[in-house]
Amino acid sequence: MVSFKELGLVNTREMFAKAINGGYAIPAFNFNNMEQLQAIVKACAETKSPVILQVSKGARNYANQTLLRYMAQGAVEYAKELGWENPQICLHLDHGDSFELCKSCVDFGFSSVMIDGSHLPYEENIALTKQVVEYAHAHDVTVEAELGVLAGVEDEVQAEESHYTKPEEVIDFATRTGCDSLAISIGTSHGAYKFTPEQCTVDPETGRLVPPPLAFDILDAIMEQLPGFPIVLHGSSSVPQEYVEIINNNGGKMPNAVGIPEEQLRKAAASAVCKINIDSDSRLAFTAAVRKVFNEKPGEFDPRKYCGPAREEMERLYKHKIQEVLGSNGKA
Ligand code: G3H
Ligand code: 13P
Ligand code: ZN
Repeated sequence: MVSFKELGLVNTREMFAKAINGGYAIPAFNFNNMEQLQAIVKACAETKSPVILQVSKGARNYANQTLLRYMAQGAVEYAKELGWENPQICLHLDHGDSFELCKSCVDFGFSSVMIDGSHLPYEENIALTKQVVEYAHAHDVTVEAELGVLAGVEDEVQAEESHYTKPEEVIDFATRTGCDSLAISIGTSHGAYKFTPEQCTVDPETGRLVPPPLAFDILDAIMEQLPGFPIVLHGSSSVPQEYVEIINNNGGKMPNAVGIPEEQLRKAAASAVCKINIDSDSRLAFTAAVRKVFNEKPGEFDPRKYCGPAREEMERLYKHKIQEVLGSNGKA
């Protein structure tokens, strides 16, 4: 058993309170490898942004939970080495699906966990979330829960609406579970294909797909029910078309990849949404940079020569998100 405090990590409690009062959001970046982590830490140290490092179940399987934990611990030391005196870094389990997994992360030094019971019947979601909250809070670890199901790209608009978070449920859910933050469904989804072309319109000037707006009316209704309560937005990659074009122009094939326009994320960040999850954009930045090197220098075989440019591109992306979208720069 190791406490996150011994590792120099922080939980989300203070981060979220400041973000709600300050009208900005904390970046929650997923990581699976060293280059991603280096890029995140550099971007956050240089902009003095608090950050949530997210580890998914898939990341644990890919990289090994022990290694990832030590990498996060190393991130705190690396941040200090970069001149960030008091790094505000949280290590968070993304989409935990069982009590056992959440417990193991708490015991292992994570400072925050998500229990995602959103696919369960309402009462079962409450019971599971409550069980995780009781264990985590005993160790001062904060808990994110989820209510409402994120839409899949195959869903019709009508079907998506039925999965949106129901504002009339949030008080009961938050009160009975004791969770510290709530992930909601208002029209975002995971991955690089968030909407079908049929759900979008076409911008006549650029020819690019314009997705339908998020359901801000539902967010407003949730905030009215739970004033000042931390809200989390998953599936918040904007799928920059510049990256999609680099990928497609260098041997890739990602037709109709589309994300959430940054203007909408700015609007969300100014509200009670205080954690914005971004994973796919980092994958796109990495892939675009690697494909470009492979295409332009087919003889290159030193991984540092393509992972290096990928790391630089991700760092640019993270800084852009922090400074131009979430507004978390200078807050740590
Ligand atoms: O929630 C999804 C995150 O982007 C993590 O994705 O399960 O492929 O690691 P993953
Ligand atoms: P994206 O796929 O939009 O990056 O969402 C990531 C996420 O929500 C991780 O939990
Ligand atoms: Zn997610």
